[in-house]
Amino acid sequence: MSNYHIKHLEEYFQVYRKSVRNPESYWEEIAEEHFLWHKRWDEVLSYDFEKPEFKWFKGAKLNITENCIDRHLRTRGDKTAILFEPNDTTEKAQHISYNELHERVCKMANVLKDKGVEKGDRVCIYLPMIPELAVSVLACARIGAIHSVVFAGFSSKALATRINDSSCKMLITSDGSFRGNKKIDLKGIVDAALENCESIENVLVVKRIETNISMQNGRDIWLQPLLDNASSSCEPEIMDAEDPLFILYTSGSTGTPKGMVHTTAGYMVYAAFTFKNVFQYREDDVYWCTADIGWITGHSYIVYGPLANGATTVMFEGVPSYPDYGRFWEIVEKHKVTQFYTAPTAIRALAKEKTEYVEKYDLSSLKILGTVGEPINEEAWHWYDENVGKKKCPIVDTWWQTETGGIMISPIPYSTPAIPTFATLPLPGIQPALMDEEGKEIKGNQVDGRLCIKFPWPSMARTIWNNHQRYKETYFSAYKGMYFTGDGALRDSVGYYRITGRVDDVVIVSGHNLGTAPIEDAINEHPAVAESAIVGYPHEIKGSALYGYVILKETGETRNQDNLRKEINQLISDRIGPIAKLDKIQFTSGLPKTRSGKIMRRILRKIASNDTSNIGDTSTLLNPEIVEELMENVISS
Ligand code: WT7
Repeated sequence: MSNYHIKHLEEYFQVYRKSVRNPESYWEEIAEEHFLWHKRWDEVLSYDFEKPEFKWFKGAKLNITENCIDRHLRTRGDKTAILFEPNDTTEKAQHISYNELHERVCKMANVLKDKGVEKGDRVCIYLPMIPELAVSVLACARIGAIHSVVFAGFSSKALATRINDSSCKMLITSDGSFRGNKKIDLKGIVDAALENCESIENVLVVKRIETNISMQNGRDIWLQPLLDNASSSCEPEIMDAEDPLFILYTSGSTGTPKGMVHTTAGYMVYAAFTFKNVFQYREDDVYWCTADIGWITGHSYIVYGPLANGATTVMFEGVPSYPDYGRFWEIVEKHKVTQFYTAPTAIRALAKEKTEYVEKYDLSSLKILGTVGEPINEEAWHWYDENVGKKKCPIVDTWWQTETGGIMISPIPYSTPAIPTFATLPLPGIQPALMDEEGKEIKGNQVDGRLCIKFPWPSMARTIWNNHQRYKETYFSAYKGMYFTGDGALRDSVGYYRITGRVDDVVIVSGHNLGTAPIEDAINEHPAVAESAIVGYPHEIKGSALYGYVILKETGETRNQDNLRKEINQLISDRIGPIAKLDKIQFTSGLPKTRSGKIMRRILRKIASNDTSNIGDTSTLLNPEIVEELMENVISS
């Protein structure tokens, strides 16, 4: 039996039982056999759900880039580590070998050091999906700097908030980016953001779109000449197992984004282990995850997980619709992709197009398909299975979160029989629990409840940057001695889990996790707006879309409502980013509120979803008459 590579169902059950009976020895064996350490741990796990505090491989010393790069050089130096596919089909793909990756990471690390970045400093990375993004991430890890990657679709305000929250010293960006047939002025966004960021000393700028940008003297520096002069050897900084590796921001249901802190050893072990098993990775595979490195999926399953296994990982700069809807499949054929990992929203968007786009290409290299980010509906699952996998490829519906660092519940291909819409079984070491609203665990099968995890796992986020109290309140206060996920789930008669969606005020739009409160804050900045409430409603392509209820100030507002809608969406775009724009905006004279003043979002959700047959009890409302008005004026198309 191998702890590290599970190959059939019986083995899964054996390994799972062992991992639950004795988690310490289970993870210790894996850590020992599959990674490179400078010093062994003193203790595999110590934890306290009250504080809360979790330490894995305490006292161990390592550098994650040695595990992801250096140790492969002897056996796989010339193998492609990163296969870069540019936005434009006329530009050549780049095959970056492990040797070359080593050289590029070392050079970048030396540039960072030369510009004064030290162990523990925060470096913000705001780059499109180009090799420099992965190289920058790894260069930070090489020298022990903490990277904070901000998705390059975020607005200048959102970027500034994230830079300031963790007082980043350095920013790495590019002159611009390509997205389909558009060019985006990234440096312009950066300049606007930095008007409000005092901690940034230097901005390193990658040349990507060859456009004229303004470079601020003393602050902004073109990266390439620095790299040209940098040494290609850089000794890795020896890190403690629990030293922070990165910060990644995720939206909460209220307040500012949360800077989730992931540490080094546990994250590495779990990302590598789950990558190997969930994708059944083999030496000659070409693995492609279509996510952006700006999200956790990209951190764990484009960069760290694959590279720790010596894999070839594809990085795609573009979008699925450019130059046409066949692009994904053209890339699969061209690079003979074996594992393909994407989001339900992408699947639904592609399923809407003619099947010729898929049929045109030879997809016979594919072995395993994956999905992540939101519940996948049955129709999309079957489309994926039939048209992409030709009914021959196991589909892994992987449930996890920014906070969990790695995949938690997922089938293991060739072992776990898949059922559409079910994430199926917990991976080894993961102990899910379903809880009721009174805080009691719901045992048995064919039940549903709130999904918690009742034992620590190696890649769990350790804190929220600068706000441990919030970490405690958000994840460890709802249920004693457990991590609360924020999701609801159902456990069927054989023990399979199906994620039913968020139980808090987070809406997942096209796989992007959006808190409603920050969007409401943005809307409320509009001078004509008195109050607003945002809810999600089902959307064919995006999974969920955003519906806004807006109360205007009583100043005899006579402006054109369509213009107001545009202005409101522009504000959201500026404050958060275009992904948070509202699909529908209904102006109303009031919102349903409880006597204590709490907005009854349950009712708003029903109205927005055109599901008013069973609106539920409105008797506790302060203003029950408003429900009628809201239903009458609902925007249904
Ligand atoms: C939330 C986490 C994990 C990387 C991408 C999202 C939802 C995620 C699934 C799935 C149903 C899913 C959950 C979760 N989610 N995967 N396979 N089935 N729902 O990371 O932005 O932190 O969002 O995404 O609601 O809580 P994230």
